[in-house]
Amino acid sequence: MSSPRRVIRDPEGLNSGSWPVPPQDFITPVDRFFTRSHAEVPRIDPQSWRLEIAGLVEQPRSYSLAELMSAFTRRTVAATLVCAGLRRDEFLQLGPLPGELPWGPEPVSAGEWTGVALGEVLQASGVKGEARHVELIGLDRVERHGREFGFGGSIDLAKAQSDEVLLATHLNGAPLPPAHGFPLRAVVPGWIGARSVKWLGRINLRRDPTDNYFQTQAYRVQREPNPRDPRDVSGGTALTVVPVNSVIVHPEPKQLLAPGRTIVRGWAMGSAARLITRVEVTVDGRDEWVPARILPQESAWTWAFWEGELELGPGQYTLCVRASDSSGATQPSDMRDTWNVKGYVNNAWHRVPVTVEL
Ligand code: MTE
Repeated sequence: MSSPRRVIRDPEGLNSGSWPVPPQDFITPVDRFFTRSHAEVPRIDPQSWRLEIAGLVEQPRSYSLAELMSAFTRRTVAATLVCAGLRRDEFLQLGPLPGELPWGPEPVSAGEWTGVALGEVLQASGVKGEARHVELIGLDRVERHGREFGFGGSIDLAKAQSDEVLLATHLNGAPLPPAHGFPLRAVVPGWIGARSVKWLGRINLRRDPTDNYFQTQAYRVQREPNPRDPRDVSGGTALTVVPVNSVIVHPEPKQLLAPGRTIVRGWAMGSAARLITRVEVTVDGRDEWVPARILPQESAWTWAFWEGELELGPGQYTLCVRASDSSGATQPSDMRDTWNVKGYVNNAWHRVPVTVEL
């Protein structure tokens, strides 16, 4: 396997990932963790920073970092963060996706996140009966259509109160690096990365989902383009849970292989913490699937690594993988069945062309 390299997707270098994923990187080292930021990384003074809890609560509160850390139990959750744009580049074979980053399989990483449970923090403020959604707003300044605002998103109250959702101060045992949300970020395991808001400054309890641009105008699945505006997805559905997916990490696309036994490696992840129960590989989409060995997973919220074997004679092939999780959910064979206007959450069978030479 070639050594991991940084793949940078924008001129400012705010959006990048590391590829390929080495088999020992079950938890991604911080220097290989992907970054996805819609504006410059804000400089935040941790001494003056505060977290505001407002909206439909009995007692609005404002916490310093030290207050937050001393008032609530510290906990650690291992979770794989998946950007909704993962594998968008494959959709480009079907046509352009103007204005969208051409992510390959690299914007996904697993971290050990440490912080406090969002649910406990909400409880301390007293959630009013009519509250249904928890809005998370960042301190970065994003500009869209002449307006400047903080990146934001919301999650439903039930998810916000579940044990795995953290307000995290640490990634892999060290304070969050600035690019990953220092001093505090939300971590919403199992949901698209966009809901894990970085540089968190404000939490609002609401009756309705947020009206932040990044939930009403982006990070929505819309299957039919709006003929008046081909980039408009406001009529689509806001993305929440990431669907089951699997990716071939080795061999790499266009790799030359020797004939005989080929080891195929990669990762797979079930939807909403469901365990991966089956990973299978084949060539050229043939209905001759070979089961792969699934390696132990560290937590329900992380990816699983897997290893399969194929016997290949000389020729050109497309290696394919598909995975199923414990609910029986599996991946669609064809990306035409998952295509959507902004090219989100592509979970069709992953295909990698290779050549076997004598
Ligand atoms: N939070 C803020 N404030 N600003 C952002 O641009 N990007 C989101 C999310 N949280 C973003 C944010 C997206 S789209 C993803 S995929 C994850 O952060 C990426 O987290 P990372 O950069 O730590 O990998």
